[in-house]
Amino acid sequence: MLRSPSNIRWKEYPDGVKLSEPALLTSGYEMRALYLPKNREFVLGKDTKTIVALLRGTLTNPSLDEKESRIFKNEAIKAADNSLLFLCRDLGDNGRIRDELKGLDLEWIEVAKGCFRSTPKIEVDDYRINLWYLVPNHNGGIHNHKESTDHNISEQMIEVHVQLRGKGWMVKYREKDEDTEYERLEMKIGVAHPVLCRVNNGKVEYPWHAYVSGPEGALFIVFEDYRIPPV
Ligand SMILES: [Fe+2]
Repeated sequence: MLRSPSNIRWKEYPDGVKLSEPALLTSGYEMRALYLPKNREFVLGKDTKTIVALLRGTLTNPSLDEKESRIFKNEAIKAADNSLLFLCRDLGDNGRIRDELKGLDLEWIEVAKGCFRSTPKIEVDDYRINLWYLVPNHNGGIHNHKESTDHNISEQMIEVHVQLRGKGWMVKYREKDEDTEYERLEMKIGVAHPVLCRVNNGKVEYPWHAYVSGPEGALFIVFEDYRIPPV
């Protein structure tokens, strides 16, 4: 079952399936949370690409682990256990990497120079979900979630990012210094990067990292999980 509180509204379908209503619309995407009880199915829109992110639970189909996401088309999603998913249906690139936020009562705020975040965060089942837009060729700020650094505050949570439009990289550093970069993961649209942090005795530990945008800028979604596995 889903834990409360949540700031989204659900529309209920037969057999306990729930879909958030209204959808969040931006940059040619229609985004909704989906709650799929054990053994239930949900069919993705015909001939439309949908980014499917599994936030909780287990699926029989498609093959996705928790905190993974990929693009699917014409697929019947089936839950092996009570599952929470987030769907971004791609209605077509409208050429606006940063676009108005419609459907939900959200707005963009510039949290640091060139870095925009949607607010308030969508809250569901101990996840907080938000969109980010970075202006072209911009480093979103090196941080490790231990020290508070301008727009990245110190909180215990497990985050993954999924690219929606434009190009971007998740970059890791040995220190809080751009010259100490040691790994650069290219963000492919619809695909979450592997989880960056480790959980050590119930404490979440991140390497220094930053999201870096390409020449067109980048729109991405962040899933923050505040349910830390117990020691
Ligand atoms: Fe981060």
